[in-house]
Amino acid sequence: MKNIVVFASGSGSNFQSIIDAVESGNLSARITGLISNKPGTKALDRASSHNIPWVILSENDFGSYEEYSEILLAQLLEWDAQLLVLAGFLRKIPSNVIGAYQNRILNIHPSLLPKYGGKGFYGINVHRAVIKAGDVETGCTIHIVSENYDEGPILDQAKIPVLADDTPEKLAARVLQKEHILYPKVISDYLKTLD
Ligand code: GRF
Repeated sequence: MKNIVVFASGSGSNFQSIIDAVESGNLSARITGLISNKPGTKALDRASSHNIPWVILSENDFGSYEEYSEILLAQLLEWDAQLLVLAGFLRKIPSNVIGAYQNRILNIHPSLLPKYGGKGFYGINVHRAVIKAGDVETGCTIHIVSENYDEGPILDQAKIPVLADDTPEKLAARVLQKEHILYPKVISDYLKTLD
C-alpha cells in the first residue's frame, strides 16, 4: 500500500473525500500526513478527527525560501510520501519538491483546463469567468504538477453543463460535487501505475 501526503489550505472538502475513500476501502492508500500553510483551517480539523498527522508550513515563518523548501522536503521524507496530492493548496510547490517528486504530484482545478488556469484563476474567480464568457459547460481537471501553474499533463476531467440561472456560487458547488467523486478515483488509478 502506498503513502500519500495531502496539501490543503482551506476547507478541505476534497481532502475529506480522499479520507472517506480510504476509510471505505475504495482507495487503497495510507494518508501519512497533511500539509497546510495556514492555522485554523477546517482541513486541519478534518486531519485531527481522523488521526492524520499534520503540520503548518508557511514560507513566511522561515528565514528564507530555501530553508522553507528544505524543511518541507524533509517532512515529506519523514512521512515517506510516495504521492503528493494537492487539494486546494494556494501556494506554489517549491522546485526542489517538484524535482524530488517528478510525476508524483497531482492537483485538482475547478475548470476544464487549459481554460481558466494559471495566475488569478482560483476559487470563485474561475466560475465568474466561465459565466462571463457564456460557456455552456465547465467542470474540473486533475493533472500532474509541473513547474508552471495548472500546466502539467491532464489525467482526467469531469464536465457539467452551465445552466441559465447559474451564479458563480451555484456553479462552484456543483463542480465541487464532481471533484469529490473524480479525485479519489483518479488517485486510486494513478497509484496503480506507480512503482
Ligand atoms: C477546489 O475547488 C479545488 O478544485 C481547488 O481548490 C478548491 C478546494 O476546495 N484547487 P476544498 O478545500 O477541497 O473544499
